[in-house]
Amino acid sequence: MSFLQQALLVVATAIVVAFFIPAFYKPSYPVPEVFGTVAPGFEEVKVVFRENYEDNWDNREAGSAFSVYYKGENVVDLWAGFADMEAKRLWKEDTMTVIFSTTKGLTALCAAMLADRGLIDFKKPVAHYWPEFAQHGKEKITVEQLLEHEAGLLATDSPLSYEILTNYTALDKILAETKPKWEPGTRHGYHGITFGPYVDAIVRRVDPEKRSIGKFFDEEVSKPFDIDAYIGAPLELDHRTGRCTNVQERFSDIIYGLRNVEVIRTLILGRIFGGNESGKLNKLMFETCGNICEAGNIFGASGLGGQVGYADPNFHIGYGFVSRYMSPMGIQMYDPRFKRLKDSMMRAIKNLQERP
Ligand SMILES: *[C@@H]1O[C@H](CO)[C@@H](O)[C@H](O)[C@H]1NC(C)=O
Ligand SMILES: *[C@@H]1O[C@H](CO)[C@@H](O)[C@H](O)[C@H]1NC(C)=O
Repeated sequence: MSFLQQALLVVATAIVVAFFIPAFYKPSYPVPEVFGTVAPGFEEVKVVFRENYEDNWDNREAGSAFSVYYKGENVVDLWAGFADMEAKRLWKEDTMTVIFSTTKGLTALCAAMLADRGLIDFKKPVAHYWPEFAQHGKEKITVEQLLEHEAGLLATDSPLSYEILTNYTALDKILAETKPKWEPGTRHGYHGITFGPYVDAIVRRVDPEKRSIGKFFDEEVSKPFDIDAYIGAPLELDHRTGRCTNVQERFSDIIYGLRNVEVIRTLILGRIFGGNESGKLNKLMFETCGNICEAGNIFGASGLGGQVGYADPNFHIGYGFVSRYMSPMGIQMYDPRFKRLKDSMMRAIKNLQERP
């Protein structure tokens, strides 16, 4: 063999080894104990929650939680693992995580509440509430088009920094000056990063108390309904927060990986990046259920790390899954960990509903 052939052989072997070893790698860490409660009829959900760890679908060195409300009763409340492995801090009943795009469900809810109160009309132009927004052909963009990801404002034209994001004068100027990437209303494309800042800018203008979306959510939703959720959690709650793991891997997955059939199908259907059908599918970011729910519309959103928060009025249920392990196995609501939990939850609900 020539030197070149030998070198190629070494490289090829290294690639094969690097690719296959992780597939056979079984973590030595034991399956964590599952804490929490399930109501009668939901016992299988606890078994399935544990199976996520037994099958290494969830990372044994990370942690997760799953909760279900049925007809207003908390019927499933489970958690396991570590909130912070380095510090050996266990996941507890009140551990919190970043939920990524699941926040869009909370954001849309605030907009919907303001619409209920007659303070936002979805059919009116954004510029009706925010005159400076009417630049570069954005005059006619309606609130509805913005909420449906049809405005063409996927990214800002100037970079955003922490300083800008915390200075509304600077932020609103950049948001208002950004040019739409397509003729607004003709296409749909996921406003992954900009959805929150734009809705926030509207909320700050229509709310009689001029509150930010974070403050509005806190005072109108979290506190009155005793919900432990924040849009912008206060720093003093950091000690309760689980550290996300696998973050870099997860992002590179989204960009290069596309290992998951559902992801590819989603992209082809244009639900994420600029199809033409899909505004309807994302109405108010209240996602229709596609192939995962049982009937009709469900409300909420899912996040990059596998986090999920939905309400399904058809079955009188609300459910949430959070994990700090950003699984490479699926994207958002197609995350297999959640899918199997949800299937088990639905079986329990159907059994209860079929009972005479
Ligand atoms: C916020 O941004 C505006 C516009 O860029 C700037 O004039 C102002 O000084 C900034 N405020 C602070 C507190 O940095
Ligand atoms: C989207 O569909 C509408 C109606 O079917 C059509 O008029 C419009 O040109 C389409 N836009 C794009 C960008 O394909």
